[in-house]
Amino acid sequence: MSYTVPKLTNYSAAALENAAAKCIRACADDAAAVRNEAELKAFRDRWIGRKNGVLTQINDLWLKGAPKDAKREAGIRVNEVKARIQELVEGARVGGDESVSAPAERVDISLPGVRRPIGAEHPVIKTTNEMVRVFQKLGYSVADGPVVETDYYNFEALNFPPNHPARDTQDTLFIAGQQAKPQRERLLLRTHTSPVQIRTMEKMRPPIRIVIPGTVHRNDPPDASHSPMFHQIEGLAVDTNITFGDLKGTLDHAMKEFFGSSVKTSFRPSFFPFTEPSAEMFVSCFICGGSGKRGTDNAPCRPCKQTGWIEILGCGMVDPNVFEFVKDNGYDPRKVSGFAFGMGADRIALLKYGVDDLQLFFNGDVRFLQQFA
Ligand code: PHE
Repeated sequence: MSYTVPKLTNYSAAALENAAAKCIRACADDAAAVRNEAELKAFRDRWIGRKNGVLTQINDLWLKGAPKDAKREAGIRVNEVKARIQELVEGARVGGDESVSAPAERVDISLPGVRRPIGAEHPVIKTTNEMVRVFQKLGYSVADGPVVETDYYNFEALNFPPNHPARDTQDTLFIAGQQAKPQRERLLLRTHTSPVQIRTMEKMRPPIRIVIPGTVHRNDPPDASHSPMFHQIEGLAVDTNITFGDLKGTLDHAMKEFFGSSVKTSFRPSFFPFTEPSAEMFVSCFICGGSGKRGTDNAPCRPCKQTGWIEILGCGMVDPNVFEFVKDNGYDPRKVSGFAFGMGADRIALLKYGVDDLQLFFNGDVRFLQQFA
C-alpha cells in the first residue's frame, strides 16, 4: 500500500473532491489485496487505526489544517471519505475482491463433495426391529435391562433355585472375585432376556405388554449355529384372565405378520422353570413351504432338516412361582395370569436371509454386511 495522506494547500471544492476520490480508490485497492487474516488486520489498522490510521490523519491534515472559510466544505468531504472508508473496511474479506484474487484460492463449486458412507443397520438389528414393530402394532411397548445381571434376576426370581439342574442349560460367564457376596447378588452375563420380565414387573403394575430385545451370553463355543454372544427378543403379557389361547393367537398372528400370511404355527410341550405349561413353537418352513423338499428335483430342504417345521421360540404361561417374587406390586398369582416367550433374533435373521454361518454376523466383514444395506 503506497497511499500517504497528502497535506492540502488548495482547499477549493475541486481539489477536495479530487483528494477524497484518490483516498477512497486507494482504500478499495488495498481491500481487494487482502489475502489472509493477518493482512486483514493490518489493513484495518492502516485505515481506521485510532493512533495513526488514515482516517485519523485525514482529520488532522485536512480538517484541523483547513483555513477558516474552507472548514465547512472540508468537513463535508472528510465525513464522506470517513463513511466510505468505514464501509470498505467493514466489507473487506480474506481473499478480497473476486476479480483480483488468485485462482488457486477460489472455491470450485463444481467439484464433487466429500462423500461419507452413512452405514446401515446390521441384519440382526434389522430383524430385531422388524419383529419388535410387529408387537408394537399389537400394543406392546419396549423394555430393556442390564446385560451384566445378578444371579437373582437371571435365575432365582425366574424359579431356578440355587443348585437346580436347570441352571446347567444356561451356563455363562461370572464376574470374578465375588465369593464373599451372597449368591443372589453375584454378577454374571445374562443368559436370556427373561430377567427383564422381573425388572419390569417390579416397576410397572399389571396389566403389562412388553417386548424386550437384547444381547445375551452363554457358554457355547462358536460354530455355524452357536455364538457365546447372541440376541433375543422376549415378550411378556400379564393381565386378568390371560390364557394359553391368547398366547397361541398372539404368536400365530405375529409369525404371519413377520414371515407371511401362509406360515402355520405348531406348539410342542417343553420345559422352562419360569413358565408352566411351557412349549416350543415351530413355524412351517417358509423356504420349502412345509414340504421338506425344494425345487423341481425335490432336493432336501436344509433349514428345516426336511421336517417342514422350524423351531422359532420358547414360550409358556408365567409360572405362579415367578409372580410370587413380584406379588407386592400387584402380581397376585390368584388374580393375574400371563404368557411369556423368547426367540433368538440371530437365528431368525439367518433363516430370513438364507445365511448358512452365524459367525458371518459377528466377524465384522464389511463386504458381507454391505449386502444388507
Ligand atoms: N428364556 C428362554 C431361553 O432363553 C426362552 C423363554 C422365554 C421361554 C420366555 C419361555 C418364556 O431359552
